[in-house]
Amino acid sequence: MDAAHVILDYHERSKHHLRRYAPGPGYLDWANQPDPFRSYQGAPRVELELAADRLPGSYNDLRAGSLPVAAPLARDSIAILFELSLAISAWKSFRGTSWALRCDPSSGNLHPTEGYLVASDLPGLDGGVYHYLSRDHVLEQRARWNGSAPVITGGVLIGIASIYWREAWKYGMRAFRYCHHDCGHAIAAVSYAAASLGWQTRMLDAAADEDVAAVLGLERTADFFHAEREEPDCLLWVGPGEPPALDNLVTAVRAAQWSGSANRLSDEHVEWPDIDHAHEATPKPRTDAVRQDASSAEFEPSTPHLDLFAATIFRQRRSAVDFDGVTSIPADALYTMLEPLLPRPCVPPWNAWPWLPRVHLALFVHRVEGLEPGLYAFLRMSAARAALQCAMPRDWLWRKAGPEHLPLYLLWPHDSRDVAKLICCHQEIAADSCYALGMLASFADVEGSPWRYRRLYWECGIIGQTLYLEAEAAGIRATGIGCFFDDEMHRLLGLEGHEWQSLYHFTAGGAVDDQRLTTLPPYGPRSSG
Ligand SMILES: Cc1cc2nc3c(=O)[nH]c(=O)nc-3n(C[C@H](O)[C@H](O)[C@H](O)COP(=O)(O)O)c2cc1C
Repeated sequence: MDAAHVILDYHERSKHHLRRYAPGPGYLDWANQPDPFRSYQGAPRVELELAADRLPGSYNDLRAGSLPVAAPLARDSIAILFELSLAISAWKSFRGTSWALRCDPSSGNLHPTEGYLVASDLPGLDGGVYHYLSRDHVLEQRARWNGSAPVITGGVLIGIASIYWREAWKYGMRAFRYCHHDCGHAIAAVSYAAASLGWQTRMLDAAADEDVAAVLGLERTADFFHAEREEPDCLLWVGPGEPPALDNLVTAVRAAQWSGSANRLSDEHVEWPDIDHAHEATPKPRTDAVRQDASSAEFEPSTPHLDLFAATIFRQRRSAVDFDGVTSIPADALYTMLEPLLPRPCVPPWNAWPWLPRVHLALFVHRVEGLEPGLYAFLRMSAARAALQCAMPRDWLWRKAGPEHLPLYLLWPHDSRDVAKLICCHQEIAADSCYALGMLASFADVEGSPWRYRRLYWECGIIGQTLYLEAEAAGIRATGIGCFFDDEMHRLLGLEGHEWQSLYHFTAGGAVDDQRLTTLPPYGPRSSG
């Protein structure tokens, strides 16, 4: 099979069906539960301050594209960048068991995503390649530049990598998908956190996986001798200046002095060859850099219900585990939440995304005052309408809804709570919410460029992170939904073949908190310091 067929075959076989879930481990082997924290033994540690409380910017300004004056690049501002993106945001505890939550969500709270910093000398920080250890809010110095440092000025690189085993331990074959959703969430979390420091974020989209692996030290097999591999995802350029040339960067890291070896996360492993094959079928080669083109949506953004500090919203983001089935939101609040999903090149999180939108929404409106309950389409690029309309049932309405600048269409005016719940693996959160949705991805490019398969999940994750933050700003709460019956959704939408696939579901409403859980601060006594 060629690579495109391998990945389409993986996609097909990792679907959940009403009568058969995708292959999974069958039970949870608690003795081999992966350590949620990767660390590099022997790597010098740099402790980071907890300083995000001092950041004055409002979330509403950032989402409108109004960024503060750029903070100086230094250890304390880098500390805030991590504190507001990949750090622990709280500990939860129940009957003697505690677990960490982070600013970025993760399927099953398993957190396969690892973060890195690549920088030249900054005030308070020697230049090099660092791994971010969220457990302790420290940087572990993996590499220091040897001789002449690479030319990184006016910014830093944030690297993202994934450890598939962390998700596969619980979810088996479908884990590959979840890792890439999580990567998308992390990309958006970095972009928002950087914006709160006045910095733009750009993906180095030309980079091949090999480049990312070289820069982050992931190809150094001896350093992962007994440990689970980390697979390269992407490099994000963060800051006001211009990114360095890839070749110079790769040459410099290869000549750098490396230290540290990765910890082993589980004593024993179950092999999931389908995940290895999916990964091997989707390597990103070097490509021409994409010029962010004229897909920018022009409109005056509306303002969310609440006006909170960005640093507050990023850290209070949580997944709802239950909705009250009563809370409703005004239609304007929904429109306000949808607006930031339209791409605008210098506004987070889409400043980090160079490609045209490939993912659109099929929205189940349940409890939105002033908007008829039913199934809606929200197109993140109006040009997608012809293809989607053609692929869906002929008798659907396609009646324009909401303000002119939002490509929102009523398709089917019926109560869709039961069907949303059924499609989301019978989860009540999909019915008891204000809205639920599925993210419809165009697979048009996957056959010619299989690496784009992973990017589709990243795009979904970025949409998800945006909606999580928007829900907090609207005074409600959200949850990403990775468990859904793929083809039931496609059948409902009348979609046949591979052209459009639902890749991620999502829901938001009035949350009911679990009162049995105790919430503790993220870094104990350090938080108050
Ligand atoms: C890709 C993805 C898929 C998820 N799928 C589900 C789901 O199907 N059902 C659910 O209740 N929560 C789901 N969640 C929410 C996670 O369980 C949650 O993010 C995790 O427990 C961490 O909690 P937090 O989001 O409050 O930090 C999902 C989250 C992500 C990012």
